[in-house]
Amino acid sequence: MTEKLLQLEKVTKVFRRAGLGLVREKSTRALDEISLTMYPEPAIVALVGESGSGKTTVCRLILGLKKASSGQILYKDRDVSQWLEKDWKNYRKEVQIVFQDPYGTYNPFYRVDRVLWTVIKKFHLTSSDRESRQLIDESLEAVGLRPREILGRYPHQLSGGERQRFMLARIYLMKPNLLVCDEPVSMIDAALRAMFLDHLRDFKKLGISCLYITHDLNIAYFIADSVVILCSGQIIESGKTESVVTDPLHPYTKELISSIPNPDPRKKWTEKLEAESVGLQKLGKGAGEQGCIFYDRCRYAMAKCEKKRPSLVKTKDREVACFLTLEAN
Ligand SMILES: Nc1ncnc2c1ncn2[C@@H]1O[C@H](COP(=O)(O)OP(=O)(O)O)[C@@H](O)[C@H]1O
Ligand SMILES: [Mg+2]
Repeated sequence: MTEKLLQLEKVTKVFRRAGLGLVREKSTRALDEISLTMYPEPAIVALVGESGSGKTTVCRLILGLKKASSGQILYKDRDVSQWLEKDWKNYRKEVQIVFQDPYGTYNPFYRVDRVLWTVIKKFHLTSSDRESRQLIDESLEAVGLRPREILGRYPHQLSGGERQRFMLARIYLMKPNLLVCDEPVSMIDAALRAMFLDHLRDFKKLGISCLYITHDLNIAYFIADSVVILCSGQIIESGKTESVVTDPLHPYTKELISSIPNPDPRKKWTEKLEAESVGLQKLGKGAGEQGCIFYDRCRYAMAKCEKKRPSLVKTKDREVACFLTLEAN
């Protein structure tokens, strides 16, 4: 067995926009030396950050849709930048993504059955048509769909909830090692959201790990074994969900947690977060500049926080990048 399932090692991503005439060249450091590890034991890890913090960029790099500017991405201890086509093919079976809006993944002119038959054929999941039909029925039933009712329909004949479930059936059928979800539930209503998250937990029992990307710390708390907090392209704290949420160490994490009000958590949280994102763009130090990324917004900032950037340091139960916390522990 390999030691690590997926590993990001000091991954940096800089987007460059070429200058033209009077327009100067501009670059955005979307990710700044982030490291993140997922182990072979099934787990749900939440990557939490405000809008613009680099979450989708992490997702694209993991899926091989973009290349890192520096650093390494390893899958089962092998560097993906060295891979051949056949390695990518295998990876695309073992690492799956769930899209925010599954409608875009259906072809409106074909019955939905085709989605499942295509993956069975492409990845040689069964050895006979009979076995394929059994697997399809089993997958649909596993996510609460009745095969007789669903098979034979066209995408527009499915409700939003059925389309989401159908995509989950596809995941069940493929049994990937890792599922990457980039804000998969932000467009759906509360009941569907709960259904979706419950299925992710069931998938974990089947051996499917999940990297769950979200701006919503409530969801992270509900679903994840551990959380990784991303702030302006840098990881500032990570650890077991329970420890980080009940005893946040980084001032930014503290701020995130204190902004979850009690009565109507989800709604207010989102509003507050959006307000903060605006603040971040206005006040925050850019990644690549000197000093702590959170300096301008931090009520505990010290003189050295402006000059030097704290690196992520292991404490007894987590990792945190803050001079104040490190002095106190
Ligand atoms: N293709 C791109 N070209 C230039 N800048 C990009 C590109 N993709 C993302 N960015 C920038 O990188 C930063 C992080 O973006 P993103 O990963 O989409 O954040 P999030 O998903 O957390 O909202 C943002 O400042 C965004 O504008
Ligand atoms: Mg995003």
